[in-house]
Amino acid sequence: MEERPAQPAARTVAIRAGSTTYPFTLASGQLDRAVTWREAAGSARTLAVITSRPVAALFPRILQATGTAGPRQLVIEVPDGEAAKTLDVVSRCYQALARARFTRSDLVIALGGGTVTDLAGFVASTWKRGTRLLHAPTTLLALVDASVGGKTGINLADGKNLVGTFHQPERVLADATVLPSLPARELRSGLAEVIKCGFIADPAILNFLPDRVRGPAQQSERYRRLIEMSVRAKAQLLADDVADRGTRRYLNYGHTAGQALETASGFSLRHGEAVALGMVFAARICELITAADGTVTDTRDVLYQVGLPTRLDTAVSFDHVWALMQQDKKVSPGRPSFVLSPRRGTAILVPMPQRRTAQQAFDEVLRPV
Ligand code: GLY
Repeated sequence: MEERPAQPAARTVAIRAGSTTYPFTLASGQLDRAVTWREAAGSARTLAVITSRPVAALFPRILQATGTAGPRQLVIEVPDGEAAKTLDVVSRCYQALARARFTRSDLVIALGGGTVTDLAGFVASTWKRGTRLLHAPTTLLALVDASVGGKTGINLADGKNLVGTFHQPERVLADATVLPSLPARELRSGLAEVIKCGFIADPAILNFLPDRVRGPAQQSERYRRLIEMSVRAKAQLLADDVADRGTRRYLNYGHTAGQALETASGFSLRHGEAVALGMVFAARICELITAADGTVTDTRDVLYQVGLPTRLDTAVSFDHVWALMQQDKKVSPGRPSFVLSPRRGTAILVPMPQRRTAQQAFDEVLRPV
């Protein structure tokens, strides 16, 4: 049954990131309105829309919305997925900005998923030592995670996100009407980040997850609420820790093993699927090193409810995953860097588990049966 009220009201979450505050505005259809883009442009004479071809094809009206009287528009098409996050693509973006004589008062618009917001954020933060940035996320993952908090990142052959900056957008235009156009697997992948927020911060999220049988068009109000709840949870954790030294690290729940699994699988696992498995792994570590009981079962039940994986179904070796997990330790040597959620809505930081504990957890809860 359709849950959407006739005219859902716009909702705004104020994102405070240290001394900066910006609006995350969730409003249906706003990406398709010329007035949105005219207002957002402000004094910009040029808008640089960084986007991928599939997204540009899905939202052609956005790219025409400013009209002839508005600012000049430059569309920089980048590859889809992780292939966007390379220094070659960054260099192509710089060349396009240089040709357009793009200034610091012009506006970079990231229109796309998390790889586009990561790339465009990096370009905006480094062009002329920092230019204006707006995020228009078009995947659930980008709506609830990548568009909020100002992390940017580029991959090198040695690993994901090894080069990056913190650069906050001046606003996020969130429009949940993009969700029905997403492939089911992409949507589920985004739900892993929503579930993560439930385990580390707001347990109400876990009682409000969508029904896996019906699509986002039939549960649109539920999705909007989940986006808002997740963004509020994330905003609280980063408000006083933009640089990722304290509570913001809780957002890494499931990611230490998850990112290693994603890479070790040769990216056959999507980010959210790998994070789901990383949460199962973290739940078992939690049972092994604290008195917590039942966290694996609880985690698996929640993931199963939305159709996310709860065990590996491809051959990935523990040695490979373990080697990749060590990269996290190198970011801030000596600091506790592994996140546990001993019960719904709470998170703690502990040192990386010992190799033998990690191997036990991997064998017990992840290895294909
Ligand atoms: N994606 C986690 C963070 O923004 O800190």
